[in-house]
Amino acid sequence: MKRRLAIVTGGTSGIGFGIAKKLIPHCHLALVYGRDHQKAQSALNQLQQDANEMDPDFKVQVYAQDLLQLEEIPALVKKITADFGEAPGVLVNSAGRLRDGLFQLSSIKDHEELLKEHLLAPMALCHSVIKGMSMAKFGRIINLSSISAQYSKRGQTNYAAAKGGIESFTRTLALEVAHRGITVNAIAPGLIQTPMTQGLVEKIQASSEGIRGRIPAGRLGTPEDIGSLAAFLCSEEASYITGVSIAIDGGRSLGDPQS
Ligand SMILES: NC(=O)c1ccc[n+]([C@@H]2O[C@H](COP(=O)([O-])OP(=O)(O)OC[C@H]3O[C@@H](n4cnc5c(N)ncnc54)[C@H](OP(=O)(O)O)[C@@H]3O)[C@@H](O)[C@H]2O)c1
Repeated sequence: MKRRLAIVTGGTSGIGFGIAKKLIPHCHLALVYGRDHQKAQSALNQLQQDANEMDPDFKVQVYAQDLLQLEEIPALVKKITADFGEAPGVLVNSAGRLRDGLFQLSSIKDHEELLKEHLLAPMALCHSVIKGMSMAKFGRIINLSSISAQYSKRGQTNYAAAKGGIESFTRTLALEVAHRGITVNAIAPGLIQTPMTQGLVEKIQASSEGIRGRIPAGRLGTPEDIGSLAAFLCSEEASYITGVSIAIDGGRSLGDPQS
């Protein structure tokens, strides 16, 4: 497969970084992040090191961009296109933070920011890349959802709303662009070990039921588990898969492993 340009938001940490690693053989990478410049630099170094063993022509760059600034997104995509000399053929929307809290105690500002990061920024990015994908008659878009879109957890009204929204958006956009060779899919992870979930993981590990009591597979998910699926969805072989949300959760959404 021709090596394409992939934009991976949140590509410097956790799941986005796991996806970036798995895309190395297939794509050049533009990784978008928010605040953590040191982490971005170390992600860049690691990817360059991993790639050099496979392909000296591989290109990767990092871009600091607060995705809450929706109006800046078209200029970001233009800059990435100019830097790499080609339009993106792959877009992975993985950036976002949590703003958990019981609904009655929460603020509208938190809801607004969460919805911007997890729903509106991915929509704006899709908007900015679809023209180029249509012209190339090839595109792969992957939106990070969560099992929280289907399975409720107290304190996550805004997150559930955003992830439910991104799944509906994914289906409808897939319908609109399928004839242009563009697929749009969502991945819905369960509990994956990343900086985002560090506190929760420690709490579960310390609880009496532990990880095995919560997750039928008996282990936490890794960013590479998600990366492997993302790499397949980005491939030529996955051209007939579109508009779906695929759970990767070690069976967590199947029910209680103790029952
Ligand atoms: N981990 C899980 O168990 C899990 C489960 C289900 C779904 N997910 C979803 O998977 C995605 C990735 O989660 P993760 O666990 O990998 O999180 P993570 O390790 O905390 O990484 C989040 C990434 O998003 C970037 N980011 C956050 N806010 C941003 C903003 N306003 N502008 C630009 N970049 C921003 C961060 O950049 P900086 O650090 O530089 O700010 C970082 O690169 C999220 O959509 C999350 O909802 C995760």
